[in-house]
Amino acid sequence: MSNRTFTMIKPDATAKGNTGAILQMINAAGFRIVAMKTTHLSAAKAGEFYAVHAERPFYGELVEFMSRGPITAAILEKDNAVEDFRKLIGATNPANAEEGTIRKLYAASIGENAVHGSDSDENARIEGDFFFSKLEQF
Ligand code: CMP
Repeated sequence: MSNRTFTMIKPDATAKGNTGAILQMINAAGFRIVAMKTTHLSAAKAGEFYAVHAERPFYGELVEFMSRGPITAAILEKDNAVEDFRKLIGATNPANAEEGTIRKLYAASIGENAVHGSDSDENARIEGDFFFSKLEQF
C-alpha cells in the first residue's frame, strides 16, 4: 500500500473561491501536502490527463470544463491515502455524496464536482508525475 494520492481542485471550485476551504478540510483530515501548484490546463493537457476517459460520451465536456479556468493540483500523503481521500471527497455525483464530504458541500453536478481524487495507488503516482517533477515532490 502506498501512502500517497493525487488531487485537483477543479475550475468550478476555484471560480467559487472554495480553494482555501477545501485545503483546510484536506489538512484537518490529516493529509500532508507533498507538492502543490495552481495552474491553468490547456484543452490538450486536460485531454491528456483524462485520456483514459477518451471513449466516454462526457469526454468533450470534461476536457472543456477542466480547461475553463485555473485548478490547484496536489500530491497528498497519509496512511491509506487513496481510500481515505475518496471517503473525504464523497461520491463522483454529489447527489450521492455523504453529508460532510467535500463534494456534498462544494460540488454542483457529476461533471462540475469540485475535486478529483485518484482511484488507485498506481494512478496516484501517474497523476502526480503528470504535474510534478521528482524535484518538486517532498
Ligand atoms: P473525476 O474523479 O475527476 O474523474 C473523471 C471525471 O469525469 C469525474 O470526476 C467527473 O468530473 C467526470 N464525469 C464522470 N462521469 C460523468 C458524467 N456522467 N457526465 C459528466 N462528467 C462525468
